[in-house]
Amino acid sequence: MFLVTGATGGIGRRVVRLLRQQEQSVRAFVRLTSHYGELEHRGAEIFIGDLHQEQDIKKATQGVQYIISAHGSGNDALSLDYRANIELIDQAKANRIQHFVFVSVLGADRGYEDAPVFKAKRAVERYLVDSGLNYTILRPTGLASNLLPLAEQFRETGLYLLIGDPKNRSSIVSTDDLARIIVDSVTVTEARNQILSVGGPEILQREDIPQIFGRIFNQQPIVINPPLFVIDGLRNVMGLLNPQTQTALGTYRTLLSNEFFCKKEEIADLEKIFNFQLETLENFLRRYLAV
Ligand SMILES: NC(=O)c1ccc[n+]([C@@H]2O[C@H](COP(=O)([O-])OP(=O)(O)OC[C@H]3O[C@@H](n4cnc5c(N)ncnc54)[C@H](OP(=O)(O)O)[C@@H]3O)[C@@H](O)[C@H]2O)c1
Repeated sequence: MFLVTGATGGIGRRVVRLLRQQEQSVRAFVRLTSHYGELEHRGAEIFIGDLHQEQDIKKATQGVQYIISAHGSGNDALSLDYRANIELIDQAKANRIQHFVFVSVLGADRGYEDAPVFKAKRAVERYLVDSGLNYTILRPTGLASNLLPLAEQFRETGLYLLIGDPKNRSSIVSTDDLARIIVDSVTVTEARNQILSVGGPEILQREDIPQIFGRIFNQQPIVINPPLFVIDGLRNVMGLLNPQTQTALGTYRTLLSNEFFCKKEEIADLEKIFNFQLETLENFLRRYLAV
């Protein structure tokens, strides 16, 4: 039995789909408010709980052999990115599970001081490595599925909002490829007890993305490119209203102001370990946008 947290998220729902296609038994950790109908329909066991609650984590981990931690945290990195994962690892040990897959983030080890999600992920990575469990830690770059709503918006308006440096590089990964890597991590020997960066096959500059949209929709992009200090101004205003949101925006700013891409050798290694060719961003978008 696999336990998947974040089972209704961009990554988690694809993981559940793949596992069910392989007829694996899956327990999907969802909230009462989550949209989990599809997971139920696919035959996943639905566990309703909240990752803020230790008791829920304890119950959800009973009788599972594999844990895939793929939940997000909104504004609450301390409770969800940190505490919930520590509790999942503790319960994994207590239940002697066979393998723990943790979805971290590229750059978790770079010591970004102002980014609570990155700090929490790094602390969890360390805890997992020292746990004695079999693990795979995956550090993805940005996900291609995040761009689907922006592409739909572009289709309607031709507009693309690019905050910060257009030359910053990224290697956006197909969310379907990432899900496959997550699922295969429990069986591929070379992925056991490894920390792997996961990106797409190309290193793109951020300004390439509206160009890709333009090609897909056959439309000249209109790029609106405000400087990064717009986010700083927004953070300061938000700080007056809600300090927690101001802190969370630190992670967003870190994402906008730094480069997140995998080296060619890392991608070659990944393709070798998992034995498939990663798809390009353009290919992913064309499949989902049916163009
Ligand atoms: N998105 C990216 O570009 C990216 C890049 C690198 C790494 N990552 C990491 O990948 C992981 C998944 O990202 P994603 O984009 O797939 O996430 P997502 O689409 O934002 O989904 C977040 C998931 O977490 C669940 N969740 C949030 N709070 C919860 C709680 N208190 N109790 C139970 N479930 C809760 C959500 O449930 P609901 O459906 O109820 O909201 C949802 O299923 C995250 O750890 C993220 O840091 C993401």
